Amino acid sequence: MKPFLKWAGNKIHIIERVREKIGSGNRLIEPFLGSGAVFLNSDFKSYLLSDTNPDLINLYLTLQKQGKDFIDYCESLFRPEYNTEAKFYELREMFNSHPSPELKSAILVYLNRHCYNGLIRYNLKGGFNTPFGRYHNPYFPRAEMLYFYEKSKIAQFFCQDFEASMLKAKRGDVIYCDPPYSPISKTANFTSYSAKPFGPLEQIRLVKVAWIAAKHGSKVVISNHSTEFTEDAYKGMAVNQFEVQRTISCKANGRNKVLELIAVMEPAAQV
Ligand SMILES: C[S@@+](CC[C@H](N)C(=O)[O-])C[C@H]1O[C@@H](n2cnc3c(N)ncnc32)[C@H](O)[C@@H]1O
Repeated sequence: MKPFLKWAGNKIHIIERVREKIGSGNRLIEPFLGSGAVFLNSDFKSYLLSDTNPDLINLYLTLQKQGKDFIDYCESLFRPEYNTEAKFYELREMFNSHPSPELKSAILVYLNRHCYNGLIRYNLKGGFNTPFGRYHNPYFPRAEMLYFYEKSKIAQFFCQDFEASMLKAKRGDVIYCDPPYSPISKTANFTSYSAKPFGPLEQIRLVKVAWIAAKHGSKVVISNHSTEFTEDAYKGMAVNQFEVQRTISCKANGRNKVLELIAVMEPAAQV
């Protein structure tokens, strides 16, 4: 099942590879949840899911609590009269002026389908700033939201840094880490999902925490670009590389292939 949110860097395109690598275990921990592509397409008894984006986690908590009533509420914003430039900027302004968590969550679903390329982007002050997308008839993801809601009954959501979630892992848990991509080249920028960038120091901190979690008995799987930097950072892990097709602009010819990897750290044996 596809996630109900469009999300930069989502792993739906490589879901089979990720499923094969994460295998099975007691609980799946996803500290970089994003749209939840792996949560939705895996089969664990329970899930610990987190991300540092508070709007995203509030949306999931609202959906988990209110279910179908919230989905109906979101759908009311997908009427044709709301698909205008004026209404879009009015709702974006409302989103940025701290409305109730429920209204903010519903507007996030609207913005995600009505803004340019579905890009959830914030300015330095934390305000959502992606422009209007001018789509003819934005799709309302009812079936996808319902699926997420049903599955959320076995999940716990937290808004927190990856380290806090990974250190909660117990022997037998599996941790799937999908951090913001490390840049392909030294001149490319690190992917930014918020005002706080995820730079090389954060990538290295992730590897250190991953080794601690593996030592405590969890399997850790990490996705990233395959570069000199990540190859070096993931030394000692089993690394599998592969090419993926990447859309680099909205034009059909703006496509190229990039090298990605999945690194696996097996749990240390019990002593
Ligand atoms: C590549 S996306 C994850 C995509 C996800 N696997 C999916 O399929 O949609 C990376 C996510 O990491 C989150 N993030 C950035 N810094 C973080 C941090 N320090 N701790 C936890 N999450 C963070 C971002 O908000 C973003 O949602």
